[in-house]
Amino acid sequence: TREELENRVIEVKQQLGSRLFIPGHHYQKDEVIQFADATGDSLKLAQLSAENKEAEFIVFCGVHFMAETADILTSDNQKVFLPDMRAGCSMADMADIQQTERAWEKLQELFGDTILPLTYINSTAAIKAFVGENGGATVTSSNAETMVKWALGIKERILFLPDQHLGRNTAADLGIGLDEMAIWNPISNALEFEGDVSKIKVILWKGHCSVHENFTVQNVADTRVQYPDMKIIVHPECRREVVELADMAGSTSYIIKTIEKAEPGSAWAIGTEMNLVKRIINDHPDKQIISLNPHMCPCLTMNRIDLPHLVWSLETLEETNNIIKVESDITENAKLALDRMLKNS
Ligand code: 13P
Ligand code: SF4
Repeated sequence: TREELENRVIEVKQQLGSRLFIPGHHYQKDEVIQFADATGDSLKLAQLSAENKEAEFIVFCGVHFMAETADILTSDNQKVFLPDMRAGCSMADMADIQQTERAWEKLQELFGDTILPLTYINSTAAIKAFVGENGGATVTSSNAETMVKWALGIKERILFLPDQHLGRNTAADLGIGLDEMAIWNPISNALEFEGDVSKIKVILWKGHCSVHENFTVQNVADTRVQYPDMKIIVHPECRREVVELADMAGSTSYIIKTIEKAEPGSAWAIGTEMNLVKRIINDHPDKQIISLNPHMCPCLTMNRIDLPHLVWSLETLEETNNIIKVESDITENAKLALDRMLKNS
């Protein structure tokens, strides 16, 4: 039963004390997040991993790239576990290292040494290492603006991997015109751009989040008609048109904080992952809150971490199941990219 499983988690947590650390991303299910020692967005979880020196076992409740990041930022005697290896991220899967190296070669031909790579933290460790080696940094949705500004202070243009929407929304907020942004198509290994290439400031990798792309302009229009007083707040992984029509946009923690600070009785439509939206609804019975898309589903890969997998993972820590171990040469370069971000945020 659920109660039995919960008791087994409690038992391991009591036995191990501070030898065990369970970070949980805001998109995790309630049945898992209730056991997290710390919850956060991608940035906060990366910062906590970098700070934690005492936990021997880090059981990461989130997706694969987050566990890799935790492994990169912790020391060799700390082991990172992912309770289900199938908990990937469809966005991170939209850029692989071979495609990235192939793209970089072409971009060097086109732009020479005027381009700096940035990668959303939602990417493989190998891509973070590539970015680190080439002078760039990682970004999260909480610090994308700071990091894009930082990068454009160093080089004339950036390659932004792998989320075109976060890249476009961030660049647009910094006043960069849509006519100064090109798309890099990793399948055709070519730029999608019409016009004078020397004007390009931002090259957006053609990737997206399959969860956040499901919020549409129609959802915004329907909400405005049905609930004229409702404020719309969305995550910057949503399409540009949706972000433009929304009242506010920001990372997962920005959304949580905004609703916490909002007046009792205020009304909100939220455009982000459904496990989080449901939790926000439950935490704020004094406010009227709905999902911007009434047919929205949770992130399926985040959902792979469930209570049975958590129990299994906690009870097999002495075995080598599901350990996330990034190779040492990749770790070294990926850390450069992560450290540049952590220093700037
Ligand atoms: P943040 O945690 O930076 O808000 O990113 C959201 C996300 O999609 C994580 O996978
Ligand atoms: Fe990846 Fe989107 Fe799921 Fe986040 S919400 S893990 S970006 S697929």
